[in-house]
Amino acid sequence: MQLLSAYLKNHDTDNELVELIDILMVACKEIALQLREGALAGIHGTTSDTNVQGETQKKLDVISNDILKEVLLDNRLVRGVASEEEDEPVFGNPEGRFLVTFDPLDGSSNIDVNVSVGTIFSILEVPETGTPDSVDLFLQPGRKQVAAGYVLYGPSAVLALTTGHGVNMFTLAHTGDFLLTREQVSVPETTKEFAINMSNQRHWEPAMRNYVDDLLAGAEGPRGKNYNMRWIASMVAEVHRVLTRGGIFTYPWDSRDPKKPGKLRLMYEGNPMSMLIEQAGGLSTTCYQNIMDIQPAHIHQRVAVALGSREEVETAMQYHQDTP
Ligand code: AHG
Ligand code: MN
Ligand code: MN
Ligand code: MN
Repeated sequence: MQLLSAYLKNHDTDNELVELIDILMVACKEIALQLREGALAGIHGTTSDTNVQGETQKKLDVISNDILKEVLLDNRLVRGVASEEEDEPVFGNPEGRFLVTFDPLDGSSNIDVNVSVGTIFSILEVPETGTPDSVDLFLQPGRKQVAAGYVLYGPSAVLALTTGHGVNMFTLAHTGDFLLTREQVSVPETTKEFAINMSNQRHWEPAMRNYVDDLLAGAEGPRGKNYNMRWIASMVAEVHRVLTRGGIFTYPWDSRDPKKPGKLRLMYEGNPMSMLIEQAGGLSTTCYQNIMDIQPAHIHQRVAVALGSREEVETAMQYHQDTP
């Protein structure tokens, strides 16, 4: 079995990018260790703080964020990091070539109930040398990502990674190494499985309501097949399922907060997951446009997300074109 860094080097990945991904995995391994100890390490529960997203921070949101920040900013290659859990980007080496954005702990409502969570990351290059430290450096569309991935902390810890040449998966071994376990992942084009938080149904746009109504109608409805539903409430686990056996995952626009076009964050969740899904042959959209084509205006920008099996996502988009 091939080691992560050896695999990347054998597939023409830039040496500095390999080094950065290795460093990122040092942080993720530490997070995995903390998670494994769980209540024994006193890491369950919430803090008294609220993050910039308006969410109460879990202890592990903060611990994971601190681990990633410390490890990354200590590396000469890193110009700066931006995180779901930080108000503003934090800068490191002024000569650093890379910017890293991350969701340190995705699915944090699942920590205390011992259900899968993950770390999602996106790597961008500093657009021009000589530009001063500023949030503007980060505001690049998802198409500019040089690598993206996540580590799912499930029954096993699995890294799903793309550097723009397909998606590969690596499993964390007891030796502390990430070993290649799935090469060139491909999302099936069609599916009979969907994932959406149905409790928000009354807040959705009519197009999304119609689309889901037709999924629920099963074989007797216009879609002509019986669908199965899953909702884990960890995007990272949902995307892993989609990459593994297909499906559509959506957290659509809803009317609860008109200022926010969805719950998920473009820079920490939408873009990296879109790159993985597209690199595996799937589709990732807002239901109106491709997520990676969005020019971000704010670092904490929200985005509506529908991603997964190509034909199913295209059908969901069609409902949005057809319904006024
Ligand atoms: P985070 O834990 O990083 O704040 O993200 C949680 C996200 C995502 O992982 C998941 O799909 C979604 O929130 C779940 O939201 P609901 O609780 O509204 O279902
Ligand atoms: Mn959060
Ligand atoms: Mn998240
Ligand atoms: Mn998070």
